[in-house]
Amino acid sequence: RILVLDFGSQYTQLIARRIRGIGVFCEIHPFDVSEETIREFNPRGVILSGGPESVHTDNSPRAPQLIFDLGVPVLGVCYGMQTLAQQLGGQVEGSSIREFGAARVDVIADSLLLNGLRDAPTATSTEGLDVWMSHGDKVTVLPEGFTITASTASCPIAAMEDASRNYYGVQFHPEVTHTAQGLEILQRFVLEICGCEALWTPANIVEDAIAKVRAQVGERKVLLGLSGGVDSSVVAALLHKAIGDQLTCVFVDHGLLRLHEGDQVMRMFAENMGVKVIRVDAEQRFLDLLKGESDPEAKRKIIGRTFIEVFDEESAKLEGIDFLAQGTIYPDVIESAAVKGGKASVIKSHHNVGGLPEDMKMELVEPLRELFKDEVRKLGVELGLPHDMVYRHPFPGPGLGVRILGEVTKEYADILRQADHIFIEELRKAGWYDKTSQAFAVFLPVKSVGVVGDARRYAWVVSLRAVETIDFMTARWAHLPYELLETVSGRIINEIEGISRVVYDVSSKPPATIEWE
Ligand code: XMP
Repeated sequence: RILVLDFGSQYTQLIARRIRGIGVFCEIHPFDVSEETIREFNPRGVILSGGPESVHTDNSPRAPQLIFDLGVPVLGVCYGMQTLAQQLGGQVEGSSIREFGAARVDVIADSLLLNGLRDAPTATSTEGLDVWMSHGDKVTVLPEGFTITASTASCPIAAMEDASRNYYGVQFHPEVTHTAQGLEILQRFVLEICGCEALWTPANIVEDAIAKVRAQVGERKVLLGLSGGVDSSVVAALLHKAIGDQLTCVFVDHGLLRLHEGDQVMRMFAENMGVKVIRVDAEQRFLDLLKGESDPEAKRKIIGRTFIEVFDEESAKLEGIDFLAQGTIYPDVIESAAVKGGKASVIKSHHNVGGLPEDMKMELVEPLRELFKDEVRKLGVELGLPHDMVYRHPFPGPGLGVRILGEVTKEYADILRQADHIFIEELRKAGWYDKTSQAFAVFLPVKSVGVVGDARRYAWVVSLRAVETIDFMTARWAHLPYELLETVSGRIINEIEGISRVVYDVSSKPPATIEWE
């Protein structure tokens, strides 16, 4: 296992995902994690992430001394390399000029980390690597015992190492795909230098998770809120495999789901897999409470609150339940730690985070707590869930409630469901579904005039939205082919009477958010 210490880089999670992808378990902890936690974690190696600070700023973060005393290999990336250099007696020069983007480094000495890894020669560099740089400061004086292993014209110490103590530093970012040999470099560090074994595979993760759940739960009973989303579905499949009938799922259908979604969830889990699922049809209750409300945040709050109320009422009817299972995944854990530290600002109130009833007496079961989304998906496939459901686009907790602008009514929801269904069906047919990260239709409560056949139609407008993104924090609108848009809009207007016009949303995030509300 590898310890990744976070100095605040936007790429820190990427480091961890790459290491896990290699098949080695790792965890991210803040740079100032307690010595006790480090000892308990007992890492085979430590990676210091990049970060936005300068070692010259007062109180800028430092790596805990303990990691140098553990006798395990340490790799510093970008800021991680700078603080490593400075803490071991080298020097770092401040600079207000940032080097940002693709660069070529020459490997100039024997290096355990870089030996034999080369990219295609260029006119000026035969022994080089194509890498991604993003830094201002740079190391100018090596700490004792180190040699320079790679360099560029503007950054003479682009990589350094002290093979006898197993300390390594790279000024570039091996975790981003623009560094062509980046994965190889990380692989070399964790497998060869740290001597870890690649045992973190979906089959092992499942086995491990099942054993942990059984140990935690014993013969007692577990309740799970099943939403049909990837995370709760994987939890359901996993718990069913681990504890069978001791699991009961409650599926709250708030009436704001996609077309046929509720039936699909029941078919898959209750009928095919034999999971105990209680479906609560709460559509009317949600619609009644949403009546007359057009403010986006107020709508979210109503939906979130009501969801919890319905779930609580239903679970109160069950007897002898000791545990509540949740599909919390690793990024949620890291983010809520960040929120506690006051760093992240809340843009929208996401109702599935932090919505637990305060007087809850049940203990939590969170079998995905250590996993990234891509790992959860692989686990889903390993557990036998269909590929299409495991790789489905994300769907927000408030559902169509945030995709119907203004007041929500059943009429609008029904129209939107049909339009959305046509859009997704055509995206899949054209091979574009997997190329987009999220795609859906949005209902606009404005009427527009059209002519269908010989008749004038005065009906509603829908917007199509499709985006490409890695992390959902920034997103680019998808450049769908005109022919595809034409097919979709043609079908929507012809097949759905309530719609007279289709528009395509060409806004990227930021400044526009992915959802319209
Ligand atoms: P925005 O609209 O903020 O969305 O750009 C980013 C991602 O988050 C999803 N989203 C939500 N998910 N509850 C959720 O579970 C919510 O209230 C919520 N609001 C937005 C959105 O679908 C996108 O994937």
